[in-house]
Amino acid sequence: MSKNSNFIRFVLSLYKPVKFLTIVMVISMVISEIFDLIKQYIIKGIIDLPTASNFQISDLYKVIIILLVVIVLELIFFYISNITRTIYMVKQQTPYISEKLFKNLDKKGYPFFVNNFSGKISSSINEINDEIVNLNTLITTGFMSLLTSMISSLIILYTIDINIFITALILFSGIIITRLIYFSQKYLPLIQKSQEANREYIGVLNDSILNFASLRVYGSVENFSKMLKNKKQETNYFRNKASAKEFTYGAIANIVYVITFAILLYYSVNMFSKNLMSLGNLIFFINAMISLKSDTTLFAWSYIHIGEAFVKLKNCYNLLYDDTNLLDDTKESIEVVKGTIKFDNVSFKYTKNYVFQNFDLCIKEKEKVGIIGVSGSGKTTLVNLLFKFYTPQKGKILIDNKDINNYNTKSIYENITYVPQETILLHTTIYENIKIAKPTASYNEIVAAAKKAELHEFIEKLDDKYDTIVGERGIKLSGGQRQRIALARIFLRDSKIVIFDEATSSLDNNTEFKIQQNIHKYFNNQTIICIAHRLSTLKDMDYIVVIDNGIIIDTGSPKVIIPKYEKVDFLKNNDV
Ligand SMILES: Nc1ncnc2c1ncn2[C@@H]1O[C@H](COP(=O)(O)OP(=O)(O)OP(=O)(O)O)[C@@H](O)[C@H]1O
Ligand SMILES: [Mg+2]
Repeated sequence: MSKNSNFIRFVLSLYKPVKFLTIVMVISMVISEIFDLIKQYIIKGIIDLPTASNFQISDLYKVIIILLVVIVLELIFFYISNITRTIYMVKQQTPYISEKLFKNLDKKGYPFFVNNFSGKISSSINEINDEIVNLNTLITTGFMSLLTSMISSLIILYTIDINIFITALILFSGIIITRLIYFSQKYLPLIQKSQEANREYIGVLNDSILNFASLRVYGSVENFSKMLKNKKQETNYFRNKASAKEFTYGAIANIVYVITFAILLYYSVNMFSKNLMSLGNLIFFINAMISLKSDTTLFAWSYIHIGEAFVKLKNCYNLLYDDTNLLDDTKESIEVVKGTIKFDNVSFKYTKNYVFQNFDLCIKEKEKVGIIGVSGSGKTTLVNLLFKFYTPQKGKILIDNKDINNYNTKSIYENITYVPQETILLHTTIYENIKIAKPTASYNEIVAAAKKAELHEFIEKLDDKYDTIVGERGIKLSGGQRQRIALARIFLRDSKIVIFDEATSSLDNNTEFKIQQNIHKYFNNQTIICIAHRLSTLKDMDYIVVIDNGIIIDTGSPKVIIPKYEKVDFLKNNDV
C-alpha cells in the first residue's frame, strides 16, 4: 500500500467514533445553503411581483411568510451543523485522537525517543488534534458551504441568461483552477518548510525551558534567546514568502474579475434597458456576481487552508507513524523461569567506535553480580543491549538460554526490573510515581514498597504525604529521595532478573546499607546485576566483574576485588 493511501486511511481513522456526527455536520450545512438559494429566489420574486399583471398585496404577504419560514429553516440547519461541529465533534473526537496517538508511541522502539526532541513528538500529537478541529471547520463552513453557495449562484445566472452563465462559469472556474494549481505547487511546499522549522523551534524551546535553571547558572539565557529568535525568524521567513505569493496571485485574479464584471454589467444593463431582463433578474445577476467573487476567494482560501492542514497532518503522521524504529510486537513473548544471562561473542557500536568487541559474560541463576569500570567503559550499554534498546551488530544475548532477538521487547521488559542510572520521575504525586511500576498496585502495596526503599518516614513528614507533587522530573526532591522513589518501584515488581545501574549512588552510607539489606532480603531468588562506582555497594555480591573499554579485565569475589580496586577512582576516566 502506498504511503499516501496509508496517510488517508490514517486521517479517516481519526473520524472513527464520529462518523454519524460528521455526516450530520456536513449534510446540515449543505441543506442550510440550499435554503439560502431558495431564499434568493423568493427575494427575486418579491422584486418582480409588483410588475405582474394581476398583482395583489395579499400575494406579497404570502411570499414574505414563505420567506420567513425559509430563513428560519436555513438558520436551524446552520446551527445544527455548527453545534455538531463545535460541541459534539470536539467532545468525542479530540480525546479519542489523543489516546490513539499516545498509544501508538508504544509501538516505537527506543531510538525513536533518543533521536527526537520530546517537544517535537508532543507538539506533533497536539498539532494533529488542532488540525483535525481546524479541518472540520474548513470543510463545513468553508469548503462545503461555499461549494454549495457557488453552485447556487451559477444556477441563478443560468436561469437569467446563458451568455452571462457561460462567461461567469469560465471566469470563476478559471480563477479557482489556476489558484488551486498555483497554491499546490508554490504555496504548500513553503508552508511545509515553515511547519518543519516550527516543530524544530518548539523542540528547542521545550528543551531550553526544561533546562532553564542550568542555562541561567551558566549565563547562557542570552545565547538561547538569540537562537530561539533565529529559529522563529526561520519559520516566519517561509510563511511570509508564502503569504506574499498569495497576495500577488489575489491581485491578478481581482483585476481579471473586475474587467469581466464590467463587461457583463454593460451587457445586462443593456438587456434591461431593452426590456429583455427584469429588474429582479438584474439585481439577481449583480448579487450573484458579487457573492461568486467572495465565495471563490473564500473557497480558494479554504482549499489552501485545507491543503495546509493536510500538509501539517502529513508531517506529524510521518514522524509518529514512520515504520522504521518499530518495536517487534509480532514476535513471541519470552518466559523467564531461571533468570540466567549470557552475552555470547557480542560486538556493538552506537555509531563509529565499538563499545564491545567479542564480549562474553555468563551469569547463572540467582547469581548476584557486581559490575565496575571507568565512566564510559560500557556498563550502561550492557543493560541497553539486554533490554533490546539497541541490537548488537554481532553475537547473541541469551536469557534462560533463549536468544532475546527472537522474542518481543515488551516481554523482555516484563521479565526484568531495572533501576536506571538517571531517575526518571513524572510531574505528579509520589504515590503515582511509585505506582507506574505496577498500575494495579493497592495503596498498601505502595506503602510497603516505600518502606522497603527507606522512603516512608520521609513521605509521612510531608504536608501532602503520598499526594505530594514531585515537580517536573522530580525537581522538588533531593537526588537521594528521587533515587529512593525509583528503588521503591522495584519492590512492586516480580521478575527473575533485577538490574541496578548506579541505583544507590546518591544515598548516604547508612540509607544505602539499609536498602541493600532489603534488596538482598526481598530479591533472594532473583538474578541481580548491580553496576556501581562505590565499591562498598558491592560487598555482598557473589562476584564482581571489572570492565574497561568494553573488555572484562578482572573477575573475582568482593573480598578480592574491592581491596584491589579501592584505590582506583572510578568516577574519573583514569586507567584501571
Ligand atoms: N545513545 C548513545 N549514542 C551514542 N553513543 C553512546 C550512547 N550511549 C552511550 N554512548 C557511548 O558509549 C560508550 C559507553 O557508554 P556507557 O553509558 O555504557 O558507559 P558507562 O560505563 O555506563 O559510563 P558511566 O559510568 O559514566 O555511566 C561511551 O563512550 C558513550 O559515549
Ligand atoms: Mg552508565
